[in-house]
Amino acid sequence: MTPTVKILASRPCVAACLHRARALPAVDRASLSPSLGPTGCRGGRRCAAQAAGPQTALAPSREEVITADPANNVTDNIFSKIGVNLHQQRGHPLCTIKEAIYDYMDKEFPGVFSKHDNLYPVVPTVANFDDVLVPLDHVSRSPNDTYYVNKATVLRCHTSAHQAELLRKGEGNFLATGDVYRRDTIDATHYPVFHQMEAVRVMKEDYWRATGLEPVVACERELKATLEGVARHLFGDVECRWVDAYFPFTEPSFELEIYFNGDWLEVLGCGVMQQSILDDNYAAGTKGWAFGIGLERWAMVLFDIPDIRLFWTDDERMTKQFPPGDLSARFKPFSKYPPCFKDMAFWVSPEFSENNLCELVRSVAGDLAEEVKLIDEFTNPKTNRTSRCYRISYRSMERSLTDEEINEVQFRVRDAVAEKLKVELR
Ligand code: PHE
Repeated sequence: MTPTVKILASRPCVAACLHRARALPAVDRASLSPSLGPTGCRGGRRCAAQAAGPQTALAPSREEVITADPANNVTDNIFSKIGVNLHQQRGHPLCTIKEAIYDYMDKEFPGVFSKHDNLYPVVPTVANFDDVLVPLDHVSRSPNDTYYVNKATVLRCHTSAHQAELLRKGEGNFLATGDVYRRDTIDATHYPVFHQMEAVRVMKEDYWRATGLEPVVACERELKATLEGVARHLFGDVECRWVDAYFPFTEPSFELEIYFNGDWLEVLGCGVMQQSILDDNYAAGTKGWAFGIGLERWAMVLFDIPDIRLFWTDDERMTKQFPPGDLSARFKPFSKYPPCFKDMAFWVSPEFSENNLCELVRSVAGDLAEEVKLIDEFTNPKTNRTSRCYRISYRSMERSLTDEEINEVQFRVRDAVAEKLKVELR
């Protein structure tokens, strides 16, 4: 499976799965899986969610993000998600989370934070990585993990991609929310597009001097108090604990865990900003803190939403459950259709990676793909070749799938995998 490397907090399952809840409340998996086409909407029409968004003017064209450049690895499936902007749609659970955090921050820091939720998701590689000090050999730069338009341009993989740009514009206190893109495996908590909110708070010298504390200590204290407050504002009187972490752009760095429904859940990454980010982009001598929250993670925990694909459906049985601004809403399962399992075994090739496999499965099956799971692996000691067997679960939440229909999908998946990943099917 994806190696466990701690870097960008929400590096799905890299790091401690910040935004990708592994330990979620009991999952009623039988209730999931909208059957969505490649646009994320059934029947090729624009879904209510898309039509409602005021953001379409900002969405890039297909030619802009899917190019002949050898580094390009953006698929049509991914392109169809750009510009949907779930976090801008009133009543969408992700928007409700965003607004609840805004409310808390405005109450604690009246008039301090500017808000951005419409920043262009196609960013220079430099902004996504170099400006926030991500080392050149960092795993997150790999095309296995990140969507490249070309070498110099990516779909942002975190909202930290906007830190330096906004600081350079003179913004010292901001909340920046947006869709972020990461190549990943498939299961109930992983989706190649999710949403983050970034916060940056710069303290001028007279401010931290007045605290009588070392600036780093003053930052850390305000950061932790703020985030515990945000967590309690959303989750109620929960127990919180801080865990040391590593991010290239903060030092010290932390993750916040909350005790929820019997488990400690990691809910965000944060830290005191690296001095050079402030010195180079804002003003020397200033100190600051930053955090990054994964909105899906918070929404899944708070609203009991068991599968990340549910955020993308326009099925009224889902959307009507969440009145705008209502933090007390809880997801009620509305259908139970059986899953359909198909196994696929092959000798792996150099082109093979689990993320590549999942990308292909999603390209063919869309949101019918519920999970891709490694169930067997062995290496032939004589030939040194490795065989893997994956089990793909397909499920729709609108209807029962027929075996014939899934057989057909599975054949297309097998063809695509053999052709594109050059594996030898067994
Ligand atoms: N960008 C980090 C991530 O995606 C989160 C983060 C933001 C951590 C700001 C620290 C400070 O995981």
